[in-house]
Amino acid sequence: RSDAGLLRVRLSSAEAAVRIGGREATVLTYNGSLPGPTLVLRPGDRLEVELENGLDAITNLHVHGLHVTPRGNGDNVLLAIDPGDTVDYAYDLPADHAPGVYWYHPHHHGNTADQVAAGLYGAIIVEDPEPIAVTRERVLVISDLSLDGAGRVAPASTRDRMMGREGELVLVNGQLAPTLSARPGERERWRVVNACTSRYLSLRLDGQGLQLLGMDSGRDAEPESVEEVRLAPGNRADLLVDAASGSSTLRTNPVERGSMPGMMGGPTTTGADLAVFEVSGDAVDVPPPVPRQSAPRDLRDEAVTGRREITLAMGMGGMGASGMAFTIDGREFAADRVDTSVDLGAVEEWTLVNTSPMDHPFHLHVWPMQVVEYPGTSIDRPIWRDVVNLPARSRVRVRVPFEDFTGTTVYHCHILDHEDLGMMGIIEAR
Ligand code: C2O
Ligand code: CU
Ligand code: CU
Repeated sequence: RSDAGLLRVRLSSAEAAVRIGGREATVLTYNGSLPGPTLVLRPGDRLEVELENGLDAITNLHVHGLHVTPRGNGDNVLLAIDPGDTVDYAYDLPADHAPGVYWYHPHHHGNTADQVAAGLYGAIIVEDPEPIAVTRERVLVISDLSLDGAGRVAPASTRDRMMGREGELVLVNGQLAPTLSARPGERERWRVVNACTSRYLSLRLDGQGLQLLGMDSGRDAEPESVEEVRLAPGNRADLLVDAASGSSTLRTNPVERGSMPGMMGGPTTTGADLAVFEVSGDAVDVPPPVPRQSAPRDLRDEAVTGRREITLAMGMGGMGASGMAFTIDGREFAADRVDTSVDLGAVEEWTLVNTSPMDHPFHLHVWPMQVVEYPGTSIDRPIWRDVVNLPARSRVRVRVPFEDFTGTTVYHCHILDHEDLGMMGIIEAR
């Protein structure tokens, strides 16, 4: 990274051998490491990526959550990079880009879930203009995969694709149950990415002080003490951990994500122990409290220029082998069709309807969404997200400011198997 605000990286996606839980595994990686390298940016920076496709399938690159133009290669999920080819990407972050935790992963329709499940993901950090005093920073990329007897990533069954595959092994930075060490009094900042293809996380770190600084690009004015942090696939959390003596387990609790009576049973995500947090030794001085952050923008105080409803559904028929269609507004994804057109500068209110018996995490590229109505919750402050979970048979309301950029991009379910099965639409801002 240069002082001129340019970060230039080369990412090479290829099969590689890694060790997971003491055993050799063959996975897909960026630059041979699982996860790929963490990219650290500041608001106003330019990121240039040279992506080399060393896979035997089409791939491409998506910077999840960044507010960057969809024009050119930048956020073009329709770009198909053939095996052996190299493509240059460039992203210019606005000077007022929201700090936070973001990530990158491939996004070629039909290959996304398989490639992310096999190991292609990495974190992106957009730093705070005013640094927050902590004694240690960690990036925790959480992912899951299943290995077969030969140590290769197991393929997903038709049922896995319908329900959203969940790997048997849940990894933190590519490792099975790593130990993280600290001293009492330390305040650590944990930037957590849920890079799982389909698994919901409900994180706990009992015995330690946990505060939520923000999620996705959303930042609260003050950190909030939390016991459990729920991350749908694609969500990120920015956490502060005040270390207290003792040994604690970072774990994810089971998550109910709908009920499908009859043939399939209910989609419940099982819990897992993710890491051990070992706090011992001499106490260190506790850093000063986190300064108050500026209050986030609240679109509830602004005029709405348009309203629309977007419906996610599962029905019979469809292109998948399962005979089940995963649709948005009754249609499966088509690369040559614009599903939604918005005007540059519009502030729209979207009612996101989920008519199906399971949850779907709804993701919109480029423009963050403010959640203004959520079932079972009274919302007392602005909540900004780029992935919003839609509970089974529910309606969620969000507001979106379509500002800064025109061009074409997508929204989709971030259960990546569902996205590959067709639960994606194209949006054009003009
Ligand atoms: Cu994380 Cu459209 O993707
Ligand atoms: Cu994205
Ligand atoms: Cu879905």
